[in-house]
Amino acid sequence: MSQVSPIDAASLISPHISHISSEKLQLATPLKLGIMASGNGSNFEVVTQAIEEGKLNAEIPVLIYNNPDAKAATRAANRGVKAVLLNHRDYKNRKDLDRQIVQTLRQYDVDLVIMAGWMRLVTQVLIDAFPHKIINIHPSLLPSFKGVRAVEQALEAGVKITGCTVHLLCLEMDSGPILMQAAVPVLPDDTAETLHARIQVQEHRILPLGIALAAQTNL
Ligand code: GRF
Repeated sequence: MSQVSPIDAASLISPHISHISSEKLQLATPLKLGIMASGNGSNFEVVTQAIEEGKLNAEIPVLIYNNPDAKAATRAANRGVKAVLLNHRDYKNRKDLDRQIVQTLRQYDVDLVIMAGWMRLVTQVLIDAFPHKIINIHPSLLPSFKGVRAVEQALEAGVKITGCTVHLLCLEMDSGPILMQAAVPVLPDDTAETLHARIQVQEHRILPLGIALAAQTNL
C-alpha cells in the first residue's frame, strides 16, 4: 500500500471550499475584528497578513490575551496592533473575566470576535454579548476530538485523516455551526508536534476564509 505524502493534503480538502479563493471573499466594508489568543499567536498573525495583503477587508483594533507570556502579544506589538492583557488569574470566576472581555471588545467597537488559540472555556456572558459573532478555530475535524488534546486524541485513535475546523462558538465546548474545514493526512511516523504543524498550515489557510465567509453570510 502506498504511503500518503504530505503533498496529498491539498487533494483532501473539502470540495466545498477548494474552489473558494480569498479574492472571492472580499468584504464590502472593513470589518473590526477582536482577536483573542492565549499562546503562540500564529493564527492571529495570518489574519494580520491577510489584511495587509488585501485579502481580507478588515482591521484589528484589539488583541486580547490572557497569558502574560503569550507570544501573540509580541506579534501584536510588531504589527502595531493594540494588545490588552486580561489575566484570568486576576478574576474570581469565568463570568467576571468574560464581563471584562465584553467591555474591552465593546470599547474597541468590535464586529466579530475571533478565538485564535484562546485556551479558556467561555461563558454565556460572552456568547450573549456577541450572538453568532464569535469564531473559533480547532485542530481537528469536529465533531471528532474536542478539547485541548485534539491532536493527541487523533493519534491515539489511529485515524488516517484529521484536520481543522473554523466554526461559530456556542456554549458547548468546540461545538457550533461549522464554517470551514480542511483535511490533513496522518502519517505513520507522526508525533503530536509534526501532525500539529501540518494541521496549522491548513488552519492558516482557512481561518481568513472562514472570517470572510462569516462576515459575508451575515450570520
Ligand atoms: C491552534 O492549533 C488552534 O486550532 C487551537 O490552538 C492553536 C493555536 O495556535 N485552538 P496559534 O497560537 O495560533 O499558533
